[in-house]
Amino acid sequence: MSPQRKLLLLGTFVHCKTQQDLDIFHGAGIAVDAEGKIAAIERDAPDLDEAKARLLTRLGWDEAEVDVTQAADGQFFFPGFIDTHIHAAQYANAGIFGKSSLLDWLETYTFPLEASLSDLSKARRVYARCIRRTLSHGTTTATYFATLDVAATNLLADLCLSMGQRAFVGRVCMDRADELNPAYYRDASTEASLEATRQTIEHVRRIDPGFDIVSPILTPRFAPSCTREVMRGLAQIHRETGLPIQTHLSENTGEIQLVAQLFPETTSYTDVYRRLGLLTPRTVLAHAVHLSEEEADVIAGHGSKVSHCPCSNTSLTSGAARVRWLWDKGIDVGLGTDVSGGYSHSILEAARQAAMVSRHVAMNIHTAHENDDNDDDVAAKEKERVKLTVEEVLYLATKGGAKCVGLEDKVGGFEVGMEWDAQLVALSHVHDDGELHHDAEHEHEEEDHGFVDVFGWESWEDRVAKWLYNGDDRNTKRVWVKGRLVHRRR
Ligand code: GUN
Ligand code: FE
Repeated sequence: MSPQRKLLLLGTFVHCKTQQDLDIFHGAGIAVDAEGKIAAIERDAPDLDEAKARLLTRLGWDEAEVDVTQAADGQFFFPGFIDTHIHAAQYANAGIFGKSSLLDWLETYTFPLEASLSDLSKARRVYARCIRRTLSHGTTTATYFATLDVAATNLLADLCLSMGQRAFVGRVCMDRADELNPAYYRDASTEASLEATRQTIEHVRRIDPGFDIVSPILTPRFAPSCTREVMRGLAQIHRETGLPIQTHLSENTGEIQLVAQLFPETTSYTDVYRRLGLLTPRTVLAHAVHLSEEEADVIAGHGSKVSHCPCSNTSLTSGAARVRWLWDKGIDVGLGTDVSGGYSHSILEAARQAAMVSRHVAMNIHTAHENDDNDDDVAAKEKERVKLTVEEVLYLATKGGAKCVGLEDKVGGFEVGMEWDAQLVALSHVHDDGELHHDAEHEHEEEDHGFVDVFGWESWEDRVAKWLYNGDDRNTKRVWVKGRLVHRRR
């Protein structure tokens, strides 16, 4: 890749300081070096010119060697979103799920679609669109399931690298021969499944030797699609390479019953993965909706992570995952769109649905004794406590996701030494020069975008809340990954 220009970003910056608190700083500057790393942050200058001058002096950089991006009034820089669970192949089906639930959805919609993507021209169309669209919604890191097909999976890795999206790309393993896993879409044998996995690892090593932007990820689809041997084999590859692992866990009650039948020697769904060596600190478990206390303790004990997929869990009527409870257990949680179990490819949408699902969890907390006032009091407090705040769901979308995929030192926030994976968000329809549009040509757009600060009295926290609940890709003006501009909205 050609060497990058250095960057200076000037204006308002918003990121998550902790799970509960946003850090919002104005009139500030961030300098990004040619490797895409944050070299310096200036927060205390009296104005933007001075912030810029101080950064250039401190770093000894010449103004001619930097590209300057200044956020206009009403715009701010925010970390790029991290989608910790998305099926790139299923992008072609987003929104098509009818009234199905998991197992019939897989059979009816999903396996036929995935199988069809062994046609590389189809795969290219779907994967390129998926990457372009998720980038345009601010997803700078995506943890992808591809399909069983090695060539198509390798193509997804190529496209992520060339289009500049940070990604984990998984060749899906399904080697169990039974009714659920159809003859037209399963690995020929356990050994063939492991060999195909190795081929994708080698391919990604060739195109991105340091796994700098694209990394392979070991991907047993879920216990009902896999033999014990393939899961053991993948755990062995993990121990040899340190590569991350992703799978599905405890999404749907029918699935859980099936797992109990297929693995009678185990005490729970989680116990299947534990016994076979798949619970590691680099493991991302999607869903985790119906876990027992004991299962959550086992996951926490192994340091494995959970990808919360609220849109999918509601669409497929899987259930409502309890994020507060997972956090109480000490489990790191990120967000997944789970396209196409989830119909939306937007992590902003996933964040707002996480907030809504937590309210449903709250509304389902009932008192044990209808007439016991003390009990009511406890329940009322618990209802309040389980609701997720704006700050908390934005944390899930950024830093929480980064922790899930082992990138917390690189992305998810704005600190010196971290990489510039970020988006420029505009809360009202403004020109790049900062002028608000009031002309007829943009009247419609302005109406769509005019949700912020109609009367001029909103705090920045209010504005960010409005962005979370009302925003979409029209608000995402620019997106960078590792300092490279990968999306610009016209
Ligand atoms: N479980 C096994 N495969 C899948 C899948 O493709 N999507 C979801 N949501 N759950 C699964
Ligand atoms: Fe999934």
